[in-house]
Amino acid sequence: MDDFEFLSPTKIIFGRNTVEKVGLEAARWGRKALLHYGGKSALKSGLIQRVKDSLIAQDIKVIEVGGVVPNPRLALVRECIDLVRKEKIDLIIAVGGGSVIDSAKGIAMGAVYEGDVWDFYKGKIPEAALPIGVVLTIPAAGSEASNSSVVTDTDGEGGWRKLGAKGEAYKPRFAILDPELTYTLPAYQTAAGGVDIMAHVMERYFTNTPDVDLTSRLCEGVLKTMIQQLPIALTDPENYAARAQIMWASTLAHNGLLDTGRATDWASHRMEHELSAKWDVTHGAGLAVMFPAWMKYVSPKKTKQFVEFGNRVFGLDVDVYHPERTAREGISRLEAFFKSLGMPTSIRDLVEGEVTDDDLRSMTERCAINPDGTLGGLVKLTREDIYQIYK
Ligand code: NZQ
Ligand code: ZN
Repeated sequence: MDDFEFLSPTKIIFGRNTVEKVGLEAARWGRKALLHYGGKSALKSGLIQRVKDSLIAQDIKVIEVGGVVPNPRLALVRECIDLVRKEKIDLIIAVGGGSVIDSAKGIAMGAVYEGDVWDFYKGKIPEAALPIGVVLTIPAAGSEASNSSVVTDTDGEGGWRKLGAKGEAYKPRFAILDPELTYTLPAYQTAAGGVDIMAHVMERYFTNTPDVDLTSRLCEGVLKTMIQQLPIALTDPENYAARAQIMWASTLAHNGLLDTGRATDWASHRMEHELSAKWDVTHGAGLAVMFPAWMKYVSPKKTKQFVEFGNRVFGLDVDVYHPERTAREGISRLEAFFKSLGMPTSIRDLVEGEVTDDDLRSMTERCAINPDGTLGGLVKLTREDIYQIYK
């Protein structure tokens, strides 16, 4: 087990009607709030009005900016930075999922930085940020307690760029998690969010670090819970118990707890970000394609890890004479599970129109790569490996 530091400062306020507490919590952090949200869902459900009422009841001034799209855009982040400075806003309330929260994180760090916010997505670590409060509406990205923000620049040269920033400064100060807010999620978003949660666990689970049984067993617990609860939420969208467990899993999968003491991978995520940058696809659906493809490619080199996955997550008996068969079966079970949720499992299922070899080559070239020229932690992938996985 490796040495580590772990800080998860986000106060989690979990349960029914917790939205009513947003004003009281926000009042601890600021007096003038940017209320940031997405397209239509939070307006239509009346959630934005509820949040506004709660903020105003605490004498917090509110300025609203909606319109954050999935795969949030750098242009809106920049616009809001100007607005925040002009209006002397001191707090950001993000109502939505990963896209809204990530946009809020960009605004929060950009507003207190003299340079261009895109610097942070190109590797600069932010030292300060305005406080952020979250009202989560979709369990998926885990951004409510994570140290990352992923934003897409649609105006750069050579096509869209989707890049992730890393930092502790903008971790939300509080996050309100009311499972009932997720009842309105379309099945596709419930499923894609579920895949993302599982992917966040698996990026940490597949490791070369020895003696990390505690965190491995915690990962298996989250994965098994998702496999059990996701089909329930899909057939019975207002099942509180299922929605609640999935929502808490979203946070636990990505707040850093599950990678304490162990090296992580992240190749599948990096490869997926190129898919979303090219075709603007839903992140979780892209992962349903990339994760099994990555697993099939690397498992022959890491049979032990994949046998353990099949055995402990899917309850497979270990074939001691042919362990590679158990490894392969575990991956097939995962792929079949994603399919049963209505997720795509190939790029052709995911995108409309033709997918050319040039598309795969260009994604391979752009795929952000480790300083040593490779990608991933479990197996160090070369550019040719990445291309083969896309293929
Ligand atoms: O815009 P509205 O109308 O609200 O619709 C949203 C959106 O279309 C809808 N939705 C959300 N809550 C709803 C709802 N519809 C009905 N009822 C509700 N309660 O769901 C759609 C997707 O929302 P989005 O915020 O995009 O989803 P998600 O949380 O999956 O976020 C995806 C983004 O997060 C990034 C992804 O790359 C992607 O850009 N990620 C961020 C991470 C982080 N910051 O730590 C880590 C992840 O690995 C990921 O990369
Ligand atoms: Zn993800």
